[in-house]
Amino acid sequence: MPSLSSAPDDLVLRLTGVSLGYGDVNILREISLDVRRGHVVALMGGSGSGKTTLLRAATGQIRAQAGQVLLFGKDLAHVNVDELQTLRQKMGVLFQQGALFTDLNVFENVAFPLREHTKLAAPALLSRVLDTLEAVGLRAAAHLKVSEISGGMARRVALARAVVLEPELVLYDEPFAGLDPISLGITARLIRSLSDRLGCASVVITHDITESFAIADHVYLVGQGVIKAHGTPATLGNSPDPYVQQFLKGNSDGPVPFDYPNSQKFDAWLSLQEAKR
Ligand SMILES: Nc1ncnc2c1ncn2[C@@H]1O[C@H](COP(=O)(O)OP(=O)(O)O)[C@@H](O)[C@H]1O
Ligand SMILES: [Mg+2]
Repeated sequence: MPSLSSAPDDLVLRLTGVSLGYGDVNILREISLDVRRGHVVALMGGSGSGKTTLLRAATGQIRAQAGQVLLFGKDLAHVNVDELQTLRQKMGVLFQQGALFTDLNVFENVAFPLREHTKLAAPALLSRVLDTLEAVGLRAAAHLKVSEISGGMARRVALARAVVLEPELVLYDEPFAGLDPISLGITARLIRSLSDRLGCASVVITHDITESFAIADHVYLVGQGVIKAHGTPATLGNSPDPYVQQFLKGNSDGPVPFDYPNSQKFDAWLSLQEAKR
């Protein structure tokens, strides 16, 4: 009997041989990855490696240059605007620098997606928002203004807002950025517990190794335009691959080059600058 995790409807997001980029420029190629219900998947890589680009492909903001992106079983190359909208309603996104509305209090920030996308009556809306705030430990902060809460609390409010519609897939783009070590640990554990509570799939984009290894079921390491390695945190931690070890240990010398690669576009730009003088 096949295990539950191999059931096809468990597959929330699947990329197969995907190339991504902007215009003629290619950023990522041959990307294949699976995200399953109930799993937390960490997408890791240095700054500029293409993590946010991958997220944009998953939400249908950019089209794949090659390969296939399947979201809830639908090929994103063949969905129309209405179908994409329906798919997105099953998805929660915490954008990089996901800012709160500063003119709304904590409660209204979390209530916002419900007011936009549901017709919940006031009492149901109140209890749904308070329950979601309770899940991130901020029920009693509902009345506070955004200016009255700390950065760590603001991140938890943003998490609550990302999951209040009870999505089947939640994408977090650098949820730990700018947090102190304690808030960082709290945020990581919240991502895990929200996932388990909702039974959803979660994709966490980050370069924070300790926290993502602590909560992820599966880790993909993005670098040099491809997936350099993937596996469970334990497998990757024990990998003899020098690239993986350099990434995990943060060594500045190793297979990852320090210099941004030269290109024709740069040379053309430089010639122009030199011609101006
Ligand atoms: N809208 C865009 N147009 C053109 N190039 C972009 C755009 N967004 C990102 N890039 C380029 O794509 C590469 C990967 O960027 P990004 O996905 O934001 O990386 P990461 O999230 O891993 O830091 C970078 O070289 C960046 O300059
Ligand atoms: Mg990014």
